[in-house]
Amino acid sequence: MIDESRVSGGALSSDGVAADVALAEVRRLRAADRPTHGGRLFAYVYDPAVPGLDELAAAAHRESAHVNGLDPTAFPSLLAMENALVGAAGRVLGGGPGTTAPDVVGSVTSGGTESLILAVKAARDAHPEIAAPRIVVPASAHAAFAKAAHYLRVALDVVPVSLDTLRPEPAAMAAAIGPETVLVACSAPSYAHGVVDPVAEIAAVAADAGVRCHVDACFGGWTLPYLRRLGEPVPAFDFTVPGVTSISVDLHKYAYAPKGVSVLLHRDAALRAPQYFAYADWPGYTMINPVIASTRSGGPIAAAYATLRHLGDAGYLRLAAVTRDAVAGLADAVRAVDSLRLLAEPESTVVCFTATEDGPDLFVLVDELTARGWHTQPQLSYAGLPASVHLTVTASVAPRVAEFGPDLAAAVAAAQAVGPVRLPAELASLVGALTPEALTPEVVAGLAGGLGLGGGPDTGASGPLPDRMALVNTLLDAAPPALRERLLVEFVGLLQRPTWGSDD
Ligand SMILES: Cc1ncc(COP(=O)(O)O)c(C=O)c1O
Repeated sequence: MIDESRVSGGALSSDGVAADVALAEVRRLRAADRPTHGGRLFAYVYDPAVPGLDELAAAAHRESAHVNGLDPTAFPSLLAMENALVGAAGRVLGGGPGTTAPDVVGSVTSGGTESLILAVKAARDAHPEIAAPRIVVPASAHAAFAKAAHYLRVALDVVPVSLDTLRPEPAAMAAAIGPETVLVACSAPSYAHGVVDPVAEIAAVAADAGVRCHVDACFGGWTLPYLRRLGEPVPAFDFTVPGVTSISVDLHKYAYAPKGVSVLLHRDAALRAPQYFAYADWPGYTMINPVIASTRSGGPIAAAYATLRHLGDAGYLRLAAVTRDAVAGLADAVRAVDSLRLLAEPESTVVCFTATEDGPDLFVLVDELTARGWHTQPQLSYAGLPASVHLTVTASVAPRVAEFGPDLAAAVAAAQAVGPVRLPAELASLVGALTPEALTPEVVAGLAGGLGLGGGPDTGASGPLPDRMALVNTLLDAAPPALRERLLVEFVGLLQRPTWGSDD
């Protein structure tokens, strides 16, 4: 009998489509994305351009995709691979047998944000006697610390960074530590500018105060040790530094594993203990989770394991050398343009530049680079720091470096010719007067329409975003952070709408 109440809509087809049709749909949708390979996308992706590595990782992922990390006794393969990943990360970051941090332990998480949330949770829950816990972070710390503070109801004490060095002063970090501080954090390196904080000094002031110190090496923890071995002047930032109690490193960044794998390390098991969540007070299985997720796919863990096994220490050293040379080449390309200046001398794998006084509008420049096939990341002005352009550099960029210089020069010339973005008067006055509380759905819809967001016949855009983003970035840049947050929440909310089927 045919079931008349069948449901279809969105991804759910009524009778199921053939496998090759479903896959073709995925491929068609993927065609709209920025290119994950080829060395022209300077954010979000980490591509070593090693032949065969994608296939290996995909095969390993497939082997373990349905394995559940929820119960290590049922799936010992995952426990073994996790322990091997933690051991590798511990070794790369100065811990393990024969070091000054022989008792390092850790967990595999889904990403940097989860690692940081758990570092904050462990620090918070180590002090149940502190009713209103706080953490101290430099202004350059990753936004995930703010997310952790928000989720865990921990107050965030933000220490400004020097406009010259882009680092916090250890004395200012020390001054921010109070009786309710449960964690002090710093970056090695920061995402925005790629600079390494004075970890040894910050860890020392934290230790003096009897407070944990977390080093966020999510971004660069897998490259800095190799850059040091290549002779670069990388300061100590790992477990060789007294006072460092935990470190996070993302394997889905510079360990070049597919997305979904980070490692959170603690100097010893006692420091890690409050990270766990266990619950036996219900009729089902006793839940014991080291990380936020309970059910966890083995796919990313197996893929990371295979990636590390295949590339090996020598592979990472070689990739770090290739990346270092690419960074140097890109930095030279920036130096060669009079109207641009590096915001920081590269000391890791980031090139970050801004414009001189009479230079191009950076947001227009980003659009001009996009038009030439280079996908860079604009960073808004913040607390005295100018707007900037961020390039995360990976090994796949190396063969492209020679093409970047001429395109950068041409994009700058084009941006100078276009001139700076001028916000239409009504948008400028609106953003000047708006408070986050005053953002009604009507105001948001009006703004989105004016900016060409959300697609539709009036916007002239080919997708939900306008082809050029300079106007959107200029508007956001003109807004204070709290308004930026609200605007982006509203704009992304407009994009996240269900599709119901062919005739919605
Ligand atoms: C320094 C640093 N910490 C944390 C994160 C957050 O990592 P994820 O995006 O994997 O959650 C990032 C991401 O770029 C980062 O650069």
